[in-house]
Amino acid sequence: TDVVTQRAIDVLKANDRGGYTIPTDGLYPYQWNWDSAISALGIAEFDLERAWQEIETLMSGQWASGMVPQILFHNPATGYFPGPETWRCDGPVPSSGISQPPVAVTAARLIWEKNPAQGRDRLNALVPKLRAWIDWYMAWRLDDQGAIFTVHPWESGRDNAPDWDKAMARIDTSGVESYTRQDTKHVNSAHRPTQKDYDLYVWLLQIGRSAQWDDAEIARINPFRVSDPLMTFITLRAVRDFLHISNELGHDTTSLNQYIETLEQGVQTLWNPDISAFDSRDTSSGEFSGSISCGSYLCWYAGVDHPGMRAQLQNALAVSKYPIASYNLNGEAFDPHRYWRGPTWPCMNLLIGLGLAERNVPEEPELRARIRELLATQGFSEYFNPIDGDPAGGKSFSWTAATWLYWAR
Ligand code: DGY
Repeated sequence: TDVVTQRAIDVLKANDRGGYTIPTDGLYPYQWNWDSAISALGIAEFDLERAWQEIETLMSGQWASGMVPQILFHNPATGYFPGPETWRCDGPVPSSGISQPPVAVTAARLIWEKNPAQGRDRLNALVPKLRAWIDWYMAWRLDDQGAIFTVHPWESGRDNAPDWDKAMARIDTSGVESYTRQDTKHVNSAHRPTQKDYDLYVWLLQIGRSAQWDDAEIARINPFRVSDPLMTFITLRAVRDFLHISNELGHDTTSLNQYIETLEQGVQTLWNPDISAFDSRDTSSGEFSGSISCGSYLCWYAGVDHPGMRAQLQNALAVSKYPIASYNLNGEAFDPHRYWRGPTWPCMNLLIGLGLAERNVPEEPELRARIRELLATQGFSEYFNPIDGDPAGGKSFSWTAATWLYWAR
């Protein structure tokens, strides 16, 4: 495993662009929000200073509203669509106009805990920014039942998950401008979202742009609003970690307990008894998606246990060699190759595994062993076929390498 560990470090170093780490060369040539947060956990295993810098560079792109963008276009690069000229945002760093799940708040806590004395000043400096991001989430992404929703599949992080299918099908995208995809020039198009998916992504981008990325205006005109277990669990976890940090460092904790209570209630509204799992819900129709996803299994990460999810976990270990898949193998939309519709993403297993270990769920060592074997034999691709472990998507992927360093090895 020393050889594999060295290879993982090499991937993270090769993807370092000076203060930030790109997900992978070619396909994703800028700083991505939650990718960076998970990469920072891996970097912290060999360079704590550089791990702090990763989070600091990410937070340098924060908007005045508190929103922290999904993509920061620090330096010009080619081969990616949509770039800054399409988004037309005017934050402190050229960026996209949507956010991503706030894993970085939790990463800041975990990195700090590796050396509290050394990290204290750096964490103190980040506290107001992390706080503003959490407040932004609670102001602009909280549904009326206490769950967190997303206004764009790219913001959810699970771009083409079957979770969004029904909500997307209701949206007329005939006004979409003409554009040229770049992603399918880098990787097999059968591993990527479809053209129809992209039309929707670009159409929603156009809507945000027409609102000049104003939150209130987006809330008024955006037709896509789906409450999501992954977003809700990651936000709940972020608030818990931020409360802990604030208590330890003596910062203001106003509203944080209220946020936690609200989100704990919200989580329960995402329980779909028909599939016995946490599920996403369209806020306009109230309809569940009927989707058991990797996001469903993030309950423990958020400090929420559920007997139904324990049963799902045992089932996931029984039906696939390399769980937890991004989408349930028995689900009708399952596709073992297509991005968030079936492949196993090691980075999601890292988050799931952290939660399992913290709650002493007995399946954690088995899950970790499966991912360890997968990465040791198949390398650090973006995602993998959950049945045979076949690598797919981008190669030499930062958050996959980080998953090895921080958890799987
Ligand atoms: C993509 O695939 O281009 C999305 O931006 C991912 O966040």
